[in-house]
Amino acid sequence: MVNMLWNIFIMDYAGSGSNEVYKEYKKMSILFINGSPNKDGNTVRLAEKLLAGKEYETLHLVDYRLYSYGQKFEEDQFAEIVKKMKEDEIVVIGSPVYWHNMSGAVRNLLDRFYGPVRAGELSGKKFVFLFQGAAPEKWMMEKAEYTMSRFASMYGMDYVGMVTDSKEAERISNKL
Ligand SMILES: Cc1cc2nc3c(=O)[nH]c(=O)nc-3n(C[C@H](O)[C@H](O)[C@H](O)COP(=O)(O)O)c2cc1C
Repeated sequence: MVNMLWNIFIMDYAGSGSNEVYKEYKKMSILFINGSPNKDGNTVRLAEKLLAGKEYETLHLVDYRLYSYGQKFEEDQFAEIVKKMKEDEIVVIGSPVYWHNMSGAVRNLLDRFYGPVRAGELSGKKFVFLFQGAAPEKWMMEKAEYTMSRFASMYGMDYVGMVTDSKEAERISNKL
Protein backbone atom coordinates (compact mmCIF):
# COMPACT_ATOMS: atom_id res chain seq x y z
CA MET A 1 0.00 0.00 0.00
CA VAL A 2 2.81 2.40 0.91
CA ASN A 3 4.40 1.64 -2.42
CA MET A 4 1.15 2.20 -4.29
CA LEU A 5 0.70 5.64 -2.69
CA TRP A 6 4.31 6.45 -3.44
CA ASN A 7 3.82 5.44 -7.07
CA ILE A 8 0.70 7.58 -7.41
CA PHE A 9 2.59 10.56 -5.98
CA ILE A 10 5.49 10.00 -8.35
CA MET A 11 3.17 9.47 -11.33
CA ASP A 12 1.50 12.82 -10.55
CA TYR A 13 4.89 14.40 -10.39
CA ALA A 14 5.93 12.73 -13.62
CA GLY A 15 2.70 13.94 -15.20
CA SER A 16 3.90 17.46 -14.64
CA GLY A 17 6.68 16.82 -17.13
CA SER A 18 9.60 15.26 -15.27
CA ASN A 19 9.95 11.75 -16.70
CA GLU A 20 13.54 11.55 -15.52
CA VAL A 21 12.43 11.86 -11.91
CA TYR A 22 9.70 9.28 -12.50
CA LYS A 23 12.20 6.72 -13.78
CA GLU A 24 14.64 7.38 -10.99
CA TYR A 25 12.25 7.14 -8.06
CA LYS A 26 9.48 4.80 -9.08
CA LYS A 27 9.41 1.83 -6.73
CA MET A 28 7.70 -1.36 -7.76
CA SER A 29 5.70 -3.21 -5.14
CA ILE A 30 6.99 -6.74 -4.67
CA LEU A 31 5.35 -9.90 -3.39
CA PHE A 32 7.51 -12.89 -2.51
CA ILE A 33 5.61 -16.17 -2.27
CA ASN A 34 7.55 -18.72 -0.25
CA GLY A 35 6.74 -22.26 -1.34
CA SER A 36 8.87 -23.85 1.37
CA PRO A 37 7.37 -24.78 4.75
CA ASN A 38 10.46 -23.18 6.32
CA LYS A 39 10.06 -19.51 7.10
CA ASP A 40 13.78 -19.17 7.73
CA GLY A 41 15.16 -21.68 5.26
CA ASN A 42 17.28 -21.57 2.13
CA THR A 43 14.44 -20.40 -0.12
CA VAL A 44 13.78 -17.39 2.09
CA ARG A 45 17.51 -16.68 2.33
CA LEU A 46 17.90 -16.69 -1.45
CA ALA A 47 14.92 -14.33 -1.73
CA GLU A 48 16.63 -12.01 0.74
CA LYS A 49 19.63 -11.89 -1.59
CA LEU A 50 17.49 -11.31 -4.67
CA LEU A 51 15.48 -8.55 -3.01
CA ALA A 52 18.23 -6.97 -0.89
CA GLY A 53 17.65 -3.25 -0.51
CA LYS A 54 14.09 -3.50 -1.82
CA GLU A 55 10.84 -3.38 0.11
CA TYR A 56 8.74 -6.49 -0.27
CA GLU A 57 6.01 -8.52 1.35
CA THR A 58 6.40 -12.23 2.02
CA LEU A 59 3.51 -14.64 1.73
CA HIS A 60 4.33 -18.03 3.20
CA LEU A 61 2.15 -20.61 1.45
CA VAL A 62 2.38 -22.75 4.58
CA ASP A 63 0.14 -20.21 6.34
CA TYR A 64 -2.65 -20.65 3.80
CA ARG A 65 -5.23 -23.34 3.35
CA LEU A 66 -4.66 -24.13 -0.28
CA TYR A 67 -6.43 -27.28 -1.25
CA SER A 68 -5.65 -29.36 -4.32
CA TYR A 69 -7.21 -28.66 -7.69
CA GLY A 70 -10.74 -30.09 -7.61
CA GLN A 71 -11.19 -29.96 -3.85
CA LYS A 72 -13.88 -27.58 -2.66
CA PHE A 73 -13.79 -26.52 0.98
CA GLU A 74 -15.29 -23.35 2.38
CA GLU A 75 -12.14 -22.34 4.26
CA ASP A 76 -9.98 -22.50 1.12
CA GLN A 77 -7.81 -19.39 0.72
CA PHE A 78 -6.78 -19.53 -2.94
CA ALA A 79 -8.74 -16.36 -3.73
CA GLU A 80 -6.79 -14.44 -1.04
CA ILE A 81 -3.48 -15.45 -2.59
CA VAL A 82 -4.57 -14.36 -6.08
CA LYS A 83 -5.84 -11.06 -4.67
CA LYS A 84 -2.43 -10.36 -3.17
CA MET A 85 -0.69 -11.27 -6.43
CA LYS A 86 -2.90 -8.81 -8.28
CA GLU A 87 -2.00 -5.99 -5.90
CA ASP A 88 1.72 -6.08 -6.60
CA GLU A 89 3.81 -5.24 -9.63
CA ILE A 90 6.51 -7.84 -9.18
CA VAL A 91 5.76 -11.41 -8.15
CA VAL A 92 8.54 -13.76 -7.02
CA ILE A 93 7.65 -17.40 -6.43
CA GLY A 94 10.27 -19.36 -4.51
CA SER A 95 10.42 -23.13 -4.27
CA PRO A 96 12.81 -25.69 -2.82
CA VAL A 97 13.59 -28.64 -5.07
CA TYR A 98 11.41 -31.54 -3.97
CA TRP A 99 11.68 -34.84 -5.78
CA HIS A 100 13.54 -33.22 -8.69
CA ASN A 101 10.88 -30.58 -9.20
CA MET A 102 9.07 -27.67 -7.53
CA SER A 103 7.49 -28.23 -4.12
CA GLY A 104 3.93 -29.55 -3.91
CA ALA A 105 2.76 -26.26 -2.41
CA VAL A 106 3.95 -24.32 -5.45
CA ARG A 107 2.64 -26.90 -7.91
CA ASN A 108 -0.68 -26.76 -6.10
CA LEU A 109 -0.83 -23.00 -6.51
CA LEU A 110 -0.20 -23.28 -10.25
CA ASP A 111 -2.84 -26.00 -10.65
CA ARG A 112 -5.40 -23.87 -8.87
CA PHE A 113 -5.02 -21.05 -11.40
CA TYR A 114 -6.46 -23.33 -14.06
CA GLY A 115 -10.07 -22.17 -14.43
CA PRO A 116 -10.69 -19.36 -11.94
CA VAL A 117 -7.98 -17.06 -13.33
CA ARG A 118 -8.33 -15.97 -16.94
CA ALA A 119 -5.41 -15.89 -19.37
CA GLY A 120 -3.70 -12.50 -19.20
CA GLU A 121 -5.28 -11.58 -15.88
CA LEU A 122 -1.92 -10.69 -14.29
CA SER A 123 -0.64 -8.79 -17.29
CA GLY A 124 1.94 -6.06 -16.79
CA LYS A 125 3.63 -7.71 -13.83
CA LYS A 126 7.19 -8.93 -13.70
CA PHE A 127 7.69 -12.51 -12.60
CA VAL A 128 10.76 -14.21 -11.11
CA PHE A 129 11.13 -17.87 -10.23
CA LEU A 130 13.47 -18.68 -7.38
CA PHE A 131 14.47 -22.33 -7.21
CA GLN A 132 17.04 -23.99 -4.99
CA GLY A 133 17.85 -27.46 -3.71
CA ALA A 134 20.48 -29.56 -1.97
CA ALA A 135 22.04 -30.96 -5.15
CA PRO A 136 19.88 -29.96 -8.10
CA GLU A 137 20.82 -31.08 -11.61
CA LYS A 138 20.56 -28.97 -14.74
CA TRP A 139 17.64 -30.92 -16.21
CA MET A 140 15.58 -30.37 -13.05
CA MET A 141 16.14 -26.64 -13.23
CA GLU A 142 15.26 -26.53 -16.92
CA LYS A 143 12.12 -28.61 -16.45
CA ALA A 144 10.76 -26.46 -13.63
CA GLU A 145 11.73 -23.27 -15.41
CA TYR A 146 9.83 -24.35 -18.51
CA THR A 147 6.65 -24.74 -16.45
CA MET A 148 7.18 -21.46 -14.65
CA SER A 149 7.89 -19.44 -17.77
CA ARG A 150 4.76 -20.91 -19.39
CA PHE A 151 2.76 -20.07 -16.26
CA ALA A 152 4.02 -16.47 -16.38
CA SER A 153 3.22 -15.99 -20.06
CA MET A 154 -0.20 -17.67 -19.80
CA TYR A 155 -1.29 -15.08 -17.24
CA GLY A 156 0.38 -12.17 -19.03
CA MET A 157 3.40 -11.68 -16.78
CA ASP A 158 6.81 -10.71 -18.06
CA TYR A 159 9.16 -13.60 -17.14
CA VAL A 160 12.39 -12.03 -15.88
CA GLY A 161 14.21 -15.29 -15.13
CA MET A 162 15.09 -18.02 -12.69
CA VAL A 163 17.36 -17.56 -9.67
CA THR A 164 19.17 -20.63 -8.38
CA ASP A 165 22.11 -19.11 -6.50
CA SER A 166 23.56 -15.87 -5.10
CA LYS A 167 25.22 -14.92 -8.37
CA GLU A 168 21.97 -15.15 -10.30
CA ALA A 169 20.18 -13.35 -7.48
CA GLU A 170 22.44 -10.37 -8.06
CA ARG A 171 22.04 -10.50 -11.85
CA ILE A 172 18.23 -10.74 -11.77
CA SER A 173 17.99 -8.18 -8.98
CA ASN A 174 19.39 -5.57 -11.35
CA LYS A 175 16.48 -6.23 -13.73
CA LEU A 176 13.80 -5.49 -11.12
C1 LIG B 1 10.56 -33.86 0.44
C2 LIG B 1 11.91 -33.33 0.02
C3 LIG B 1 12.42 -33.67 -1.22
C4 LIG B 1 13.63 -33.16 -1.65
N1 LIG B 1 14.09 -33.48 -2.90
C5 LIG B 1 15.23 -32.92 -3.37
C6 LIG B 1 15.70 -33.20 -4.69
O1 LIG B 1 15.11 -33.97 -5.44
N2 LIG B 1 16.83 -32.59 -5.13
C7 LIG B 1 17.53 -31.71 -4.33
O2 LIG B 1 18.54 -31.14 -4.79
N3 LIG B 1 17.12 -31.42 -3.07
C8 LIG B 1 15.99 -32.01 -2.57
N4 LIG B 1 15.55 -31.74 -1.30
C9 LIG B 1 16.35 -30.80 -0.46
C10 LIG B 1 15.79 -29.37 -0.46
O3 LIG B 1 15.53 -28.89 -1.75
C11 LIG B 1 16.79 -28.44 0.20
O4 LIG B 1 17.06 -28.88 1.52
C12 LIG B 1 16.30 -27.00 0.22
O5 LIG B 1 17.39 -26.15 0.49
C13 LIG B 1 15.19 -26.77 1.25
O6 LIG B 1 14.77 -25.43 1.18
P1 LIG B 1 14.19 -24.67 2.46
O7 LIG B 1 15.34 -24.55 3.45
O8 LIG B 1 13.74 -23.34 1.98
O9 LIG B 1 13.06 -25.49 2.98
C14 LIG B 1 14.37 -32.28 -0.81
C15 LIG B 1 13.85 -31.96 0.45
C16 LIG B 1 12.63 -32.47 0.88
C17 LIG B 1 12.10 -32.08 2.24
